[in-house]
Amino acid sequence: MVIVRPPAPAEDTRQRVLDAALKRTGFRQDALIEVLHAAQNSFGYLTPELLWYVAARLRLPPSRVYGVATFYNFFSLKPPGDHTVIVCEGTVCYIRGAIKIAEGLQAAFGAAPGDTSPDGKVSVAIARCLGSCALAPIVVIDGQLIGKTSAEAAVERVRLALGAPAEVAP
Ligand code: FES
Repeated sequence: MVIVRPPAPAEDTRQRVLDAALKRTGFRQDALIEVLHAAQNSFGYLTPELLWYVAARLRLPPSRVYGVATFYNFFSLKPPGDHTVIVCEGTVCYIRGAIKIAEGLQAAFGAAPGDTSPDGKVSVAIARCLGSCALAPIVVIDGQLIGKTSAEAAVERVRLALGAPAEVAP
């Protein structure tokens, strides 16, 4: 029998949050996505140790856990960048230009959706409807929701978050 060690000491708050999620869901295999969410929220991203631990506690093959973690773009197997941008690609935001926003962010910072820029400063994640469709299209930059935005405005907001001086219109 393979013994899988917890990713963090038992008294570590992140570990306690993950173990609480496992317990709350009754170690059910069909709660895999919920448990992976708890793991990512707690640890920031899904390390190989976390995936092995979740697989062992849910008695699932590690390949299945890895497959689910890589299938959904809201899971990340890499550390997040210094600044995170969530682009809503729900139906309303999609119709109002969400794809252009994601493309603009990628062109400006080199961060593809679901990935982090090569310098580790900006991560871009994609969400499906953040529940504020009246403000579409929406991005969330470092936890702050910004509605009725555009690719140019989103890029400028991220530049400001990175400490760059604001671009002054001629
Ligand atoms: S579709 Fe983006 S908030 Fe609903």
